[in-house]
Amino acid sequence: MHTRESPGTFRVKSFGCQMNVYDGERMAELLTEKGIAPAPEGEEADLVVLNTCHIREKAAEKVYSDIGRLWKADGSKPLIAVAGCVAQAEGEEIMARAPAVGVVVGPQAYHRLPELIDRAVRGDRATDTEMPANAKFAALPARRRAGPSAFLTVQEGCDKFCTYCVVPYTRGAEISRPFRDLRAEAERLVEAGAREITLLGQNVNAWRGEDGKGRALGLDGLIRDLAKLPDLHRIRYTTSHPNDVTEGLVAAHGEVDKLMPYLHLPVQSGSNRVLKAMNRSHTAESYLRTLDRFRAARPDIAISGDFIVGFPGESEADFQATLQLVDTVGYAHAFSFKYSARPGTPAAVMDGQVGREVMEERLQRLQGALNRDQLAFNQASVGRRCAVLVERHGKKPGQWLGKSPWLQSVFFEGESAIGELAEVTLSTAGPNSLAAELCVPAAA
Ligand code: SAH
Ligand code: SF4
Ligand code: F3S
Repeated sequence: MHTRESPGTFRVKSFGCQMNVYDGERMAELLTEKGIAPAPEGEEADLVVLNTCHIREKAAEKVYSDIGRLWKADGSKPLIAVAGCVAQAEGEEIMARAPAVGVVVGPQAYHRLPELIDRAVRGDRATDTEMPANAKFAALPARRRAGPSAFLTVQEGCDKFCTYCVVPYTRGAEISRPFRDLRAEAERLVEAGAREITLLGQNVNAWRGEDGKGRALGLDGLIRDLAKLPDLHRIRYTTSHPNDVTEGLVAAHGEVDKLMPYLHLPVQSGSNRVLKAMNRSHTAESYLRTLDRFRAARPDIAISGDFIVGFPGESEADFQATLQLVDTVGYAHAFSFKYSARPGTPAAVMDGQVGREVMEERLQRLQGALNRDQLAFNQASVGRRCAVLVERHGKKPGQWLGKSPWLQSVFFEGESAIGELAEVTLSTAGPNSLAAELCVPAAA
């Protein structure tokens, strides 16, 4: 690789989960601080950071097709940096396979991006996939910009080792960021305009910390503390693990007004046999009991989940158990995926790999049921009066788009502003959004 000019502009492209979106924002802040400017819309950037996802085969392949698209035969522009979970899992392979890539940086090392870029500019292709994350957060610049709804990573990594999953390998062991750092970052986000904060973690409810007086805190303690920030109106958290649900977290849903009535609690399968092979260490029944506890504390809570169909050994009867569980829960929203064998995970070499057509057919049936329930949930919301946090302008002039407490997309017309909590009545439901009427405050 030859030397090149220092990049003047950059673009970060994030794939995968919300934590990658958060990381992408932090990388952008870091590069801006280094004096590299975000590339204007539609213009080619001197530096492109591909912030990648390794969770399923398709996601991981995207990085190579993107590199192919960006690469120019003369090697001039842009400088390509591969970040994220593919960088962590396949860093050396990327360096060997893709000469266009100048920097490979893992999710726990991206605070070193500026020096890695300097090295690449000098012609020295650089890789850093060091773990864990402790040093990263301390080395990042303070938050300066935020939209009405902001992400805040509080916990990273995973010790659960579900047999299909790469996250424990790409993100490392579970770590919790210290309470005082989170408090400070949340304050900065609110000063910068955030009105809602979503606390992020691969197992966000495994977060543990200590308050200023040395008392132990769980996620509910963090939520209760952040709820004291006057200009912060809403708190959400994702993704939770069924085995890390505490009484305190359940109770917080009944007691903290700013904690939104929404729970993303992945279950993956409704079959105990499959759950065991997945190493999920919960059963369908224990999962349902956990949901009952949340519903007792907050009856209107919207439930969301993740599902995998076609895990090795999944029979039609196992799949029926998943459909049964879906019927029992009545999800407001959910993600469902075909099982993807990931290199290095135990499930990839299990007997009974399920054929592609069977997987496709099961996914169709599952998504049919989930879509039906999502529409039913939205329809049941019609007539409800609620606050919508306005996030942006709608497509039509005078139209606003925001989120209900139950994380539904809601659009309405009338006097409002981005970042405002608008009082509305939900009036018409579609599968993916609702229309609403703005409530005009009663004359004094
Ligand atoms: N930590 C979270 C989410 C991890 S990844 C949790 O445990 O719930 C997000 C989702 O991707 C998972 O919930 C799972 O449904 C899906 N997923 C993970 N590995 C997968 C694989 N190998 N094939 C298909 N889906 C997968
Ligand atoms: Fe992956 Fe399981 Fe950890 Fe979630 S809990 S990140 S699915 S290993
Ligand atoms: Fe993907 Fe890594 Fe997130 S594999 S889902 S970007 S933790």
